[in-house]
Amino acid sequence: FHNVALIVAAGKGERAGAARPKQFALLGGKPVVAHSIDAALTHPAIDGVIVVTAADQRQAMEVALDGRDVRAIVDGGASRRESVLAGLEAISALGGAVRVLIHDAARPLLPHAVIDRLLAQLDGSAGAVPVLPVADTLATADEALGDIVPRTGLVRVQTPQAFRFDAILAAHRLWPVDQEATDDAQILRAVELEVAMVEGDSMLEKITHPQDFASAEARLAARAS
Ligand code: C5P
Repeated sequence: FHNVALIVAAGKGERAGAARPKQFALLGGKPVVAHSIDAALTHPAIDGVIVVTAADQRQAMEVALDGRDVRAIVDGGASRRESVLAGLEAISALGGAVRVLIHDAARPLLPHAVIDRLLAQLDGSAGAVPVLPVADTLATADEALGDIVPRTGLVRVQTPQAFRFDAILAAHRLWPVDQEATDDAQILRAVELEVAMVEGDSMLEKITHPQDFASAEARLAARAS
């Protein structure tokens, strides 16, 4: 592959409160996971899509994919980090890639412009992530409200995260086996490579809780109009 998209969708999605994992719930009549896969499949610079699913959800994944042309469906692991590593190893077994975009299926609305920005940034660095500024006041919290945390110097990090394939595969292989990482950029930083930032997009907000479906539906409708 030249540029491959790795979509991780092996989570249980329990916080979303639905009967089935959130990646299979319908958004605008289409399974959540199918949205970002379609965005990757239709991007002219991406020449392969790999999807990671929980082994016991393979059938549900095949139904959700409905014949979409993904290059492999890979069994995930107990943590996101294990699922990503399984996907990277599968890409390696298929002959490797120059660049990889690692993306959460839980962020279904994936603008092509973000992919363009990330790929352009990779000419000068081994990794690049989309970020947004923090708008809310941040504070520590215990039983009562704690201190305000200054938000200057803080960003919200989204996916897809883009990497030179060989660099992120090597970094993942070095990361401690049983240590979770919610974010692959940290894994690249752990081997002392720099991660660049590009502008993120509110379309990419993650679906975590039940109410996030309604806002995703609204963003989808706004995009279509
Ligand atoms: O649970 P959370 O929303 O933080 O998960 C982020 C992404 O990682 C989701 O797309 C989820 O399907 C994926 N994941 C995975 N394997 C796991 C846990 C999460 O692929 N074991």
